[in-house]
Amino acid sequence: MKKYFVIGNPIDHSLSPKLHNYWFKENNINATYDKKKIDETDLKSIILKVKEKKINGINVTVPFKKKVIAYLDKLSPEAKQTQSVNTITLSNNNLVGYNTDIFGFMRAIKNLNFKIEGKKIFILGAGGVVPSIIFALKQMSVSKITISNRTRQKADDLKNLFENLNVKDWGDIPEFDVIINATSLGLKNEKINLDLSKVKNNKLFYDVIYNPTETNFLKKGKELGNMTENGKNMFIFQASAAFKLWHGEEPKYNSEILKFLNND
Ligand code: ATR
Repeated sequence: MKKYFVIGNPIDHSLSPKLHNYWFKENNINATYDKKKIDETDLKSIILKVKEKKINGINVTVPFKKKVIAYLDKLSPEAKQTQSVNTITLSNNNLVGYNTDIFGFMRAIKNLNFKIEGKKIFILGAGGVVPSIIFALKQMSVSKITISNRTRQKADDLKNLFENLNVKDWGDIPEFDVIINATSLGLKNEKINLDLSKVKNNKLFYDVIYNPTETNFLKKGKELGNMTENGKNMFIFQASAAFKLWHGEEPKYNSEILKFLNND
């Protein structure tokens, strides 16, 4: 039986096992998918198990998406540019790192009735997922990307990975069509300490967070008359791209999956 894992720390919250095991059943795949909480010192040995074919594939989550790179033989171009790996496979005896968060974000946006091409984007936060979001936005030909992070230096550092990024001090709100919360604010029902009251309608408020389903940030966006979307579809689509890398085919997407995942 094939074995898959998602590794991270913390890992309790991860819905990846639930989703992949559901797809195994649906597609008659004889495999198991579990979560494993690890420390940085365990990284090398668990990744080696993929090379030894004791594990067939690994998903990587916070805080190891960059740290795993040191133990891999090859990176996909996307993983290389974002310096972020969330999926590991073995191909011709090489450990290969992929970034399917990019695809996840792109598909989630394409799923919406919102034309993002040519739009001005404002990203809050500069943590692990932000390089993937920037990569995806550039692919989708947005006109301008501005980033703001409490610790400004981390936003400035992203300029080393991407050209034409604009950085604002935390608290400054530029003109935008789409605002993305990529901070961890909202996971515990916190409010974001930014004054968005002057923001008009017809914009897209996107939150990478999907649990809770509607953060205070999304509530505010809705209240101001804007479209909102949480990170659930991004999560599903990154998983479906990982599934395709391991099993050759994308699993079927339907609203049943959303319901099934919301049913916690
Ligand atoms: P990491 O930064 O380790 O990659 P993350 O969960 O991916 O972790 O990112 C957390 C993001 O939420 C960061 O952008 C963080 O800002 P800092 O870089 O200044 O830490 C942001 N964040 C967390 N708590 C915040 C707060 N109280 N106010 C504003 N931003 C906050």
